[in-house]
Amino acid sequence: MKNFINISDCSSVELRAIIEEAKKRKQNRSGLNKSAPDEDKPFEGKSMAMIFEKPSTRTRMSFDIAVKQLGGSSIILNPDGIHYGKGEETLKDTAKVLSEYVDIVMLRTSSHKNLEEFGRHLDVPIINGLSDVSHPCQIMSDILTYEESNGSIEGKTVCWIGDGNNNMSNSLIEAAGKFNFKLNIGCPKKYSPNKSILKLAKKEKVKLTITSKPLEAATGADCVMTDKWVSMNDKVNKISKKKTLKPYQVNKKLMSKANSDAIFMHCLPVGRGEEVTNDVIDGKQSVVWRQALNRVHAQKSIIKWCID
Ligand code: CP
Ligand code: NVA
Repeated sequence: MKNFINISDCSSVELRAIIEEAKKRKQNRSGLNKSAPDEDKPFEGKSMAMIFEKPSTRTRMSFDIAVKQLGGSSIILNPDGIHYGKGEETLKDTAKVLSEYVDIVMLRTSSHKNLEEFGRHLDVPIINGLSDVSHPCQIMSDILTYEESNGSIEGKTVCWIGDGNNNMSNSLIEAAGKFNFKLNIGCPKKYSPNKSILKLAKKEKVKLTITSKPLEAATGADCVMTDKWVSMNDKVNKISKKKTLKPYQVNKKLMSKANSDAIFMHCLPVGRGEEVTNDVIDGKQSVVWRQALNRVHAQKSIIKWCID
C-alpha cells in the first residue's frame, strides 16, 4: 500500500513508470467513450472516497472519470456532511471507518498536516488532491501534457512566473529534481519559494534559477507556467498581493522570450487578464484544456500505483 502525498516522496523511477503507464493507457483506449472502462478494469469492484474541504471542478470530475475508466466507482463526501474530525468523532476514527468501506481515499485540504494525519490512520492509500503545501497530481498531469506535446522533459527548461511560494510551485520544484529539467522561477522577492522547499531543492540538486526579472526567467524556456496570484484560502491582502505581482503577467511579450515551440500551461482556474492575458491562454501555444483532460489519465496511473 502506497500513499501519493508529495512528488518528493517517490523515486524518479516510480514517477517515470506512472507517466509511462498513463501514456500507454491513454493510447489503448482511443475511440472509447469518455467514461467507458479500460479493457482490463484494474479497479473493478473497488471504490474511492473523495473529500473536498475546498472547491474543485477539475480534480472532482477527473478523479470520478479516472475511477470509472479503471472499472470502479467513487463517492464524494462533503466534510460538512460527515463526522470529519469534529463533533463526536476524531479524524482517526473517521479514517478507520472509511478504511472499512473503500479501497482508496482522495483528500483536498487546507491543512497538509490533516492530510498526513488522516493518511497515518487510514488502512488504505491516500492521494493528495491539493493541499496548502503541494498539488502533486496536477504536476504529474502537466509532465504528461508536456511530453505529449514536445517529447521528453529531461534537460528542458520550464519557466514558472508569478507566485513562487504556493502549492503548485512547490510540486514543480520537486518534479524538476525527479524528472531532471531546469526550472526558472520569475517572481518578486516577497513571493519567492520558502526555505523548506529551497532546502529540499538543494539536497535534490534541482537546477533552479530564481530571479525577480520575469523576462529573464522566460528566455529560452520550453514551457511557461503560471497560476492564480491568490490561491484558495490564501490569507493575504489580495489587493496588495495582486499589485506586487502585476509585473509578472504572462503576455505576448513574455512568451516571445521563450523558445518558438514553447507551450503555455496553467492548472486552472485562471484569473484572465491578471496572471495571463486572453491572447496567450486562448492562443496557439496554450495547452490548458488538454492539461485538464490529462488529469484523468495521470490520476488513473497514480491510483493504480497506489493499489498495486
Ligand atoms: N487544477 C485544479 O486542481 O482545478 P480544480 O480546483 O478545479 O480541481
Ligand atoms: N494554487 C492554486 C491551485 C488551484 C488548482 C490554489 O491553491 O488555489
